Amino acid sequence: MSKIPALIDLKELTENKILKLFDLASAIEKKNQIESVRLAPVGLLFFEPSTRTRMSFEMACGRLGLPTLLLSGKWGTSLEKGETLEDTILNIAAMKPSVLIVRAHDELSMKKMAEEVSVPWINAGWGKQGHPTQALLDAQTIRKFVGKLGGKKILFVGDVRHSRVVASHLELSQKLNYQIGVCGPPEFLFSPESHQVRTTQTFDDLEKGLAWADVVIALRVQSERHEHQHHLNQYHQEWGLNEKKLMALNKQGLLLHPGPINHGVELDPQTLKDPRCQVLEQVTQGIYLRQALIKTLLQSPGDLS
Ligand code: CP
Repeated sequence: MSKIPALIDLKELTENKILKLFDLASAIEKKNQIESVRLAPVGLLFFEPSTRTRMSFEMACGRLGLPTLLLSGKWGTSLEKGETLEDTILNIAAMKPSVLIVRAHDELSMKKMAEEVSVPWINAGWGKQGHPTQALLDAQTIRKFVGKLGGKKILFVGDVRHSRVVASHLELSQKLNYQIGVCGPPEFLFSPESHQVRTTQTFDDLEKGLAWADVVIALRVQSERHEHQHHLNQYHQEWGLNEKKLMALNKQGLLLHPGPINHGVELDPQTLKDPRCQVLEQVTQGIYLRQALIKTLLQSPGDLS
């Protein structure tokens, strides 16, 4: 029996497969390609909140001509009556969607469930473990504005330890050969004994990190994942980006943020007007990337596995 395709992390993908996906996404963007794939609806199961990822997957499905079956949060579903996530997934899978796109917290055994349901599966953000399509769309945005990733230096500022986006970039950087730097308050960075510390460069000075980087990705302070609440004013003073601090970043550099932004915490409002800031272009690239991904998963799954 052939393996059911899934994108849960980026470890299995080769550089060639990733580049093929990027090229397909670029072709979709160039032709503004709208398609009419005739298959069963796509199941979107968002057990955690989302705006960009959920709606851009819905948009990608719409552009492919695929209807969607949406579960967003527990309200109005039998999760309210205590049904488990696992049972919910098994029941939606039993309706035979063509793909399941799932956002869930760390406690869900995503890999095990994907194998159990035998339906093509895409990770749309999994606790702190990974957000592969976000890393891919970031990389596609960088390719568009700065050029190929090989040898580039990407600095993540802020809540690195709780970031599934960084987790996926650590995987992707191994495939596309870019360097990762991190800076932020010590309690937001990887613990000194963690294996991630060995593969990243840590800056204790934001200006030095910005001077090193080709691309800076500011991260949302994920207060919902913290045991102790951080003083956001203090965070902004030390690690928030403003136009003055951004003078240290290369003029041809790029400023990204996966969203949602805490305005006046990670980014000053003025930074969004800086020509190097492409946070909305990230969202647009997410549509083409996700359209390319779903299309590949359904029509040429061998290009992903
Ligand atoms: N970047 C991202 O995952 O945003 P949402 O949580 O709004 O989907």
